[in-house]
Amino acid sequence: MNQPTKARILPDELLREFAQRFGTPLYVYDAATLLARATELLDARASDGRGFDFVRYAQKANPNLALLELLREHGVLVDAVSSGELVRARSAGYAPHQIQFCADLFDRDTLARLGAEPFAVNVGSPDMLEQLAAVPSATREVTLRVNPGFGHGHDAKVSTGGSTSKHGIWHEALPSAVLRARRHGLEVVGLHVHIGSGSDLENLTRSGAALEAAARVVGASLESISAGGGLPVPYRANEARFDLQKHVEFWCGVRARIEGQLQRRIDLELEPGRYLVAECGLLLSEVRGLKRNGEHEYVLVDAGFHNLVRPAMYGAWHDISVLGRDNEPHEPFLVAGPLCESADVFTQGKGGAPLPRELPRPRIGDLVCLHDAGAYGAAMASNYNSQLLAAEVLVEHSEARLVRQRQSFEHLLEAELRCRR
Ligand code: LLP
Repeated sequence: MNQPTKARILPDELLREFAQRFGTPLYVYDAATLLARATELLDARASDGRGFDFVRYAQKANPNLALLELLREHGVLVDAVSSGELVRARSAGYAPHQIQFCADLFDRDTLARLGAEPFAVNVGSPDMLEQLAAVPSATREVTLRVNPGFGHGHDAKVSTGGSTSKHGIWHEALPSAVLRARRHGLEVVGLHVHIGSGSDLENLTRSGAALEAAARVVGASLESISAGGGLPVPYRANEARFDLQKHVEFWCGVRARIEGQLQRRIDLELEPGRYLVAECGLLLSEVRGLKRNGEHEYVLVDAGFHNLVRPAMYGAWHDISVLGRDNEPHEPFLVAGPLCESADVFTQGKGGAPLPRELPRPRIGDLVCLHDAGAYGAAMASNYNSQLLAAEVLVEHSEARLVRQRQSFEHLLEAELRCRR
C-alpha cells in the first residue's frame, strides 16, 4: 500500500515552471496558506468572547522580508532574538515598539540599538536588567521571561524550560529579579513563558499555573502575559491538527484569573513561529542519481542539510513526494543530498538511524518536494561545503515573485576576497 503524503500546497505545473525559471534547490512559499494561519490565530475566540490580543511572529522560524511584510500588513507583531532580527523587522516596515527583543543576553551591538530606538524588551536573564537600565534612552518597561522549571518540545534539543535549558529567569528567582528591576528603575509590565518548540497542548498549558504564580509576584504593574509559541503542526499526512480552540480557551482562562487577582485588564499574547510558516513552504529539489549501497537504495537530490537541517539535527520528519508519480507503486528509499557528510540524509530518525521512506521510483530529473519546510528551513541554512543558499519564491494572488535570489559564488567569497593580501 502506498504511504499517503500530504497534498502539495501548489499545483505541479507551477512547481515545474518554478524549477525551470529559478532552478533548484528552491524554497517555494504560498502567501494564502501563510495568511490563513495568521487569520486563524488572530480570530481564535474563547467562550468569553476574547482571544489573543496580540499575535507576535517568532521570525527565527523564517525571517524572509517578504513574509515579514505580509504578516505585518496582516496585523501580526514580531519578535527579534538578535540585532540582525531587529534590523530585518525594521526593514520590513515594523515600528520599533511593535518589535520585541527576546533573548537571554544582550550583545553590545544590541544594547546600542536599544538605545537608539524604542524597541520592547523581554528579559531572559537577571543580568540583562542592569545592562538595559544603563542604556540612557532605552525602554524602562520590560517583560520577564519565566523558566517554569519544566520544558517540552518535539526533541530534547528544542525544550526551553527546566534546569537543562539556559532560557528564562528561573521561577524561584523571579521575586529577586522583580526587585532588581525596580531597583534599577525598570517597571515589569509583562510576563512571558515559552517551554519549547513543536510541543503539545498538554505540555503547553502546563505553564499556565506558573504564569498565575508569577503574576502574584509582579502584582499591580502587570499589563500583559505571553503564552509563548511552540504550537505543533502536523508534519505527517494522518496527524491531527493542534486543537487551537482548547489552547485559546485555556489561556483566556489563565488571563481571566490573573485579571481577577489583580483587578485590572491584562493583554494576552501568543508568540508562534512554526505554526505560522511551516505549512506555507516547501523545498523543491531535483533528483540527480539513484544507487544501491548494500540493503539501502538511495535517491540523490540536489538539496541537502545546508538547505534543510531539521532531519539531520533532530531526526525530524518531512513528507516527501515526487512530482508526477503519486500513483505509481512505492518502494523504500533513503533520500540523500550532495554534502560530503553521511548525515546528509532527509530520511532519518533520532540519533541518525536510517528510516527508508516508501516513495515512487523517481527518475533522474524528477522533482522531489520536501513538505512543510517553511519553518526552520531557509532560516537554518548554511554554506557548508561552499554550497550556495537557495533561492526563495513567494506565490501571492497566483503571481510568483523571487523573494531571495540564489546566492552567487561572488557573494560566497566576497568577505574573504576583500581581506586578501
Ligand atoms: N518564542 C521563543 C522565546 C522561542 O525560543 C521560540 C523558538 C519561539 C517563540 C517559536 O517557537 P515555535 O512556535 O516556532 O515552536 N529549530 C527548531 C526549533 C527551535 C525553536 C527555537 N525557539 C526546529 O527546527 O524544530
